[in-house]
Parts: sequence; structure tokens; C-alpha cells
Amino acid sequence: MDNFRFYSPTEFIFGKDTEQEVGKRITQEQVKKVLLHYGGGSIKRSGLYDTVIASLKEAGISFVELGGVKPNPIDSLVYEGIELCKKEEIDFILAVGGGSVIDSAKAIAAGVKYDGDFWDFFDRKARVEDAIPIGTILTIPAAGSEGSTATVITKEEGNLKRGMGSDLLRPVFSIINPELTYTLPMWQTAAGIVDMISHLFERYITKSKDVILTDRLMESTLISIMEAARVILEDPENYEARATICWAGTIAHNGVLGVGREEEWSTHMLEHELSALYDMTHGAGLAVMFPAYMKYTLLEDVDRYYRLATEAFGVPHNYEHKEEVALEGIVRLMGFFVELGMPITLEEAGASREDIPKLLEKLKENQGNSFGQFVQLDLEDCRRIYELASEETNDE
Ligand code: NZQ
Ligand code: ZN
Repeated sequence: MDNFRFYSPTEFIFGKDTEQEVGKRITQEQVKKVLLHYGGGSIKRSGLYDTVIASLKEAGISFVELGGVKPNPIDSLVYEGIELCKKEEIDFILAVGGGSVIDSAKAIAAGVKYDGDFWDFFDRKARVEDAIPIGTILTIPAAGSEGSTATVITKEEGNLKRGMGSDLLRPVFSIINPELTYTLPMWQTAAGIVDMISHLFERYITKSKDVILTDRLMESTLISIMEAARVILEDPENYEARATICWAGTIAHNGVLGVGREEEWSTHMLEHELSALYDMTHGAGLAVMFPAYMKYTLLEDVDRYYRLATEAFGVPHNYEHKEEVALEGIVRLMGFFVELGMPITLEEAGASREDIPKLLEKLKENQGNSFGQFVQLDLEDCRRIYELASEETNDE
């Protein structure tokens, strides 16, 4: 196990009706005025908006609102949020929604305290040294932003989707009521499940040795996610299954499962180009890219993929034919994505093989000529992985 530091100050308030406590919880901070940040309207339709407003008013908290965050959140609303926070002297942001709303809130929180252009953080020209605190009410278990250091924003000019992170951006608190996820369309539930599974894989696929504890924690988390997902497909309002998915989404990405080991993240980089070019749902893009990445890198460490296949996907041991066992694990993963109604080829996800040069061009702009930990991928490797994800070559 490698040396590590792990700092996760977020208070998680989990369970039924917990969103009603939001006003009271904010009064524990030294807050003068709150920005209530939300998305495209799901919180109004579900009634959560009214609950939050009532709770803030009851606690005597003064606030202003900024809605309209789109999935794959964009820089223009971040700039608007920063201006609004400065004008209104906001000192706390409450993000009510999914990863997109929370990421937009994090970017605003860092931008308010920075003299230059907030995009400098995403350009690696500056590091976050201060940020106003944020709290969240999560409505979709997926991105894990409610417990993570990261924010991912798309700059509209040039269509650049990039991430950055800082411990200063971890939410002060995150309220997670699994019942709030009942209103999710099955497509969003499924995409969220693929995303959290991918967050496990980005940590699981590693060259680090002697990481058996986190290996096993991730295998158990993955098995629990798949079991709960199958329950939700049949019974979307099953509280226990929704609760499992909610907490799994948080631990898959708050860092606790990645300690002491080298993490990967190449597949996320490959996917971000898909969501930037096609405005694709992040989880759907990952359902396409992860199997392709795994097949491409399988021979780099067959034992790693063999372990995943046997421990998490129940493939019987066969030490004589490790590669076949490892590959069967990937086939079962794809089968699970299909069960969820997710695409597993570029074409099914609405992308086109002809656009691969465009994807590579942006990848180069965002990541340089090579990137990756488990395997260093150059642009030719990336081209082959995108091609593997295309239905012409993806025959599984
Ligand atoms: O905008 P509204 O109307 O709220 O609708 C949203 C949105 O259309 C809807 N939704 C959310 N909760 C709902 C609901 N609809 C009905 N009932 C509910 N309870 O779902 C749609 C998707 O929401 P979004 O916030 O975009 O989903 P998600 O949480 O998957 O976030 C995706 C974004 O997070 C980034 C992704 O790249 C993408 O931009 N990521 C952020 C990470 C991080 N900060 O740590 C890591 C991830 O790997 C990821 O890259
Ligand atoms: Zn993700």
C-alpha cells in the first residue's frame, strides 16, 4: 500500500426526510446569505424546491436563487453565478441536484474567491486557494460530487470539457435522501449506476501492489451495486435498493476506496470528449468506453482482470486460460450494461465512427500527446480504443 493522506470533512446526512433539515443545518455555519443553485426544473416538479424554500425560511436564512444548470454544466452560468455571488455578498452555496449542479456550485465557489478568470483552474494556470463553502442536497446518485474534490465544467468556446479538484471544494455537508431518487427516469438511474461503477474501475485498475483491502471493498461495492440495480429495474421505489445505490455512489468517489493505490482515469478522459462533442449523458458514454478500454488493456495485466472477473462477476476459475476468464468478466459487464438499457457501442450512444479524428483532436488539446497510469496511452492507442467501441469492431 502506498503512503497517503485522506481528508474528507463532509458531513453526510442520510435517510428519509433529511432534506427538511437543510435550513437548520446551514445555521450551524457562519452564513449571512446563501445562493440556492439548481438545475432545469426536476426539483420544482418533485416538490423538493418547495421543501427547501420552506426549510430555509423557517431557519431565517436569507437567500437568492440561480437555477438553470444543464447536464454537462457550462462556463457561462458559472460566470453568472460568480457575478451574482459578488453582487449579493453570498457566503454559502446550497446546490440542490446532481453532479452537474454540484459541479457548477463548486466552480462558482472557487471563482468568487479568485481575482482572475475561474477557467484558469481548469487550464492549470492557477490552484484553488480559497473557496466559499458549499452544501448539497443530492437528487441523483452518479457523479459522486457530493463527496468529491472534483468539478467538471464545459467551456462553450472551443467545447472543452475539463475537470479540476481541491479539498477546499469538498462540500461541508451533503444531504442524501434515497426517496428523492424515485422520480429519476430509468435512463438517468442507469447512467448514474454506470458512472459509479466506473469510479470503482478507475481505482481498481491499477499497477499498485498489496492493495487487497481496497480491492475487496471495491469488489463488494460493485456486487452490491449490481444486486441493487436489478431490484430497482423491477421495483423503482424500493427504498433499501435506492439507499444502497445512493451510498455506493458516494463511497465510489469520495476517495476512501482509492487510498494507498495509484488511480487511473483514462476512460473518463476518453468519455469526456464524447459528452463534450455530443452532449452525451456521462454514464452512457462510460458504458461504451469502459469495456473498450478494458479489452484494449487486458494483456497489460491479465491477473488484474482475472481477479475482477472471478471475484466480482462470478466467472469460474480456470488458471490454464486466464485470458479467457478475464475476457468473460468484460463480457458479463457489458451484459449488465445492456440489462440497464445502456448503450455499449458508439453508434448506440448516438456517436459516429467518422468523428473519431475530432475526438482525438480535442483529447490532444485537453490531455496532451499521452496520458494514463495503468497504461500510458498515446493518441494512436486512443484511436484504437474508440474504434473498439464502435459496432464495426465491437462484436461482443
Ligand atoms: O436539471 P434537472 O431538471 O434537475 O434534471 C436532471 C438532469 O436532467 C435530472 N435529475 C436529477 N435528479 C433528478 C432528476 N430528474 C428527476 N428526478 C430527480 N431526482 O437528471 C439529469 C442529469 O443530472 P446531472 O446532474 O447532469 O447528473 P450527474 O449527477 O450524472 O452529473 C453528471 C455530471 O457530473 C460530471 C459529469 O462529467 C457530468 O458533467 N462528473 C463529475 C464528477 C465530480 N464532480 O466528481 C465526477 C464524474 O466522473 C463526472 O465526470
Ligand atoms: Zn464519472
